[in-house]
Amino acid sequence: MSDDPIALFDAWFAEAKASEPNDPDAMALATATPDGMPSVRMVLLKDHGPQGFTFYTNADSRKGGELRADPRAALLFHWKSLRRQIRIEGPVEEVGPDEADAYFATRSRDSQLGAHASDQSRPLASRSTFEERYEEVKRRFEGHAVPRPERWTGFRVTPERIEFWTDRPHRLHERRLFVREGQGWTEGLLYP
Ligand SMILES: Cc1cc2nc3c(=O)[nH]c(=O)nc-3n(C[C@H](O)[C@H](O)[C@H](O)COP(=O)(O)O)c2cc1C
Repeated sequence: MSDDPIALFDAWFAEAKASEPNDPDAMALATATPDGMPSVRMVLLKDHGPQGFTFYTNADSRKGGELRADPRAALLFHWKSLRRQIRIEGPVEEVGPDEADAYFATRSRDSQLGAHASDQSRPLASRSTFEERYEEVKRRFEGHAVPRPERWTGFRVTPERIEFWTDRPHRLHERRLFVREGQGWTEGLLYP
């Protein structure tokens, strides 16, 4: 199975879950503006498989706007205790509304309310403005299920390149690169 990068990801991810002190599913997400200015932030991996790697966010956030203009992204996992990193690059698409609804329903009620209260990435006059919005949202949905905000959704990065990096002594690190070719993958090594 080691010639299948998704199976290899699964194996490394399982080890990270067993060994990392927190957030083994945290990954850096890099996007760019149309003129090529990069930006990066952490998000959580919520689903993955051969079809892609999915995270959830506000589509009107900075990252959402950049992905609308240029739907390509790079992901980076760094598991410090394991001294490993995985780099993933490829095109991005929004998940369907049913998939987004299903994931939103699994979130805690407080997180659901927070998704309604946060105008993610927009300027905020004061912390108390946000807290008041949160309390208002809480009152609005009192006694009801919290629906998914329409602009809160998932984005799936379909991998075209996946690189597995392993720390080795004397900086003689190991790099295994998989590049998608048709239905399969070609595999090679890179100098560290
Ligand atoms: C460990 C970690 C996990 C995070 N996970 C998410 C996430 O899954 N979705 C999200 O929208 N923001 C997440 N954030 C916050 C983002 O890093 C970022 O602050 C926010 O999404 C706004 O980014 P933007 O202005 O570039 O759109 C996370 C932050 C950290 C440190």
